[in-house]
Amino acid sequence: MTLNSAAAIACSNIAFIKYWGNSDHRLRLAANASLSMNLAALTVQAAVEFIPTLAEDQLSINSAAPSPAAAQRVFEHLDLVRSRARISTRAKIATTSNFPAGAGIASSAAAFAALSVAGAAAAGLTLSQAELSALARRGSGSASRSVPGGFCQWLADGNQREFATSIAPADHWDLCDVVAVVSVEHKRVGSTGGHELADSSDLQAARVAGAAERFAACKQALLNKDLSALGPIIEEDAILMHSVMMTCRPPIFYWLPATLEILHAVPRWRAGGLPVYFTIDAGPNVHLICESRNANQVEAAARALPGVQKTFRSGVGGPTRLVNTGN
Ligand code: DP6
Repeated sequence: MTLNSAAAIACSNIAFIKYWGNSDHRLRLAANASLSMNLAALTVQAAVEFIPTLAEDQLSINSAAPSPAAAQRVFEHLDLVRSRARISTRAKIATTSNFPAGAGIASSAAAFAALSVAGAAAAGLTLSQAELSALARRGSGSASRSVPGGFCQWLADGNQREFATSIAPADHWDLCDVVAVVSVEHKRVGSTGGHELADSSDLQAARVAGAAERFAACKQALLNKDLSALGPIIEEDAILMHSVMMTCRPPIFYWLPATLEILHAVPRWRAGGLPVYFTIDAGPNVHLICESRNANQVEAAARALPGVQKTFRSGVGGPTRLVNTGN
């Protein structure tokens, strides 16, 4: 590895208690505390190299040129690293995900976690995990929760250094996320735009008011490895978030008919003796949360539904880590 360069690998994560809406949009301070599980099978590697002779930052995503908007977001994030390290050197950045870009699964959490850890190391900064998590949060809120490992909480205390910490390591509980993909189309309203609209819904205040109680109950169920206690909370929390989305001005409808088909199927599967619960992010695809020993059955049940195009599966992932690329 040459000096001034570093690479890191980060897992994506799925939130059990959702982050939706900000108390400060520019700093990405959350309206409520959130809780998530890192996804071992869905990773992004970011390589950052500061090159003194470079006139402008360069970015490739999966070996292709990114959209101008994506490039700007990444370069602005690197500006935060540069200002902290008191350097102005431009960089060459390459990110690669181990899942296809059109998979219907967002990669921003993993991308900004990896970019923050690689960027800070390449700039010669020695930051704590909490500082790296806070840095990642500025790029994408949920990225803060991909820096620590296993099951992570991001407490929303309004402090401008809000960060996420691990509440249990990856091997605490053998949970599995089976993602039922009903569409791989790019979402029309991205999360950043969605967060900014959240307060226009009359329901956001009620959702936020109940979030602390759901968070506490979810955390306890997680620590107790109690799926029958965890499940109803994560389902309710996801439905509340989507209720806010659907009542924003203008409204955002992420669900497709096939999304709802799955939501009807899940209680049927449970009634048939299969312990599985759903959660949904800012998109139409459904995350089916179960214990790993039931994942085959859940995957088969999901694939049997006509609207499900494919499924992905992931266990619990560890923290973002620096990797030696052998350069
Ligand atoms: C629905 O963190 O992806 O996945 O900060 O604008 O990048 P930005 O948004 P992001 O929003 C995540 C929203 C969510 C819920 C969650 O992960 O908590």
